[in-house]
Amino acid sequence: MKRVPVAVLASGEGTNYRALCSYEDAPYEIALLMSDRPHAPALEKAREDGLPTAVFYPGDFPDLSGWERAMVSTLRSFEVEWVVLAGFMRLLSPFFLQAFPWRVVNLHPSLLPAFRGRDAIARALRRGVTWTGVTVHLVDEGVDRGPIVVQRPVPILPGDDEGSLTRRIKAAEHHLYPRALRALLEVPFSVAEGRLIWADEREVRRLCGEPF
Ligand code: GAR
Repeated sequence: MKRVPVAVLASGEGTNYRALCSYEDAPYEIALLMSDRPHAPALEKAREDGLPTAVFYPGDFPDLSGWERAMVSTLRSFEVEWVVLAGFMRLLSPFFLQAFPWRVVNLHPSLLPAFRGRDAIARALRRGVTWTGVTVHLVDEGVDRGPIVVQRPVPILPGDDEGSLTRRIKAAEHHLYPRALRALLEVPFSVAEGRLIWADEREVRRLCGEPF
């Protein structure tokens, strides 16, 4: 079966990009890695993998709408069907999202709607919650908002610091994100009143595993 061409957008380390690459049962094919930061380590990882890369630094464009138009045009030239945000730290406007309706997916290191935005892991630690987690969601115009695809809890253990908690959260992300993307590509879904409704929840649990 033909694999679905996707783009990964990353601003940072790219460990989730690597997890998406190494998932063996992928029904997707990563067509390119795109970044808003010319020196993002994720770009280096993609180059090592021999993958096409593209840098779109917003400061190189007269305005954000020009920046987004250029990105959409490159994504179209690669015939990308899904846009997979993996640590992409920019807000996308309705113009971009309408180019890929409910086909932009994001990963966030908390149980949304808790701890939206930057530094979610540090803020969860400071707040003293005993559980946090990871969320995969479809993207709408808000910050870390949009219909939830899957979530997984991660405990905050006594003695955890930002480093140890980040390692456990990333391990959960690396496991979940490729499987969640597979579910989105293989299991029909609809979106109603801000919620994602699966045609077959059991199949999603089979692909992604049980939450506990
Ligand atoms: C991940 O933890 C992801 O959840 C987070 O950025 C990190 C990227 O790590 N995304 C957000 O905070 C989005 N608001 P990586 O570059 O190693 O894949």
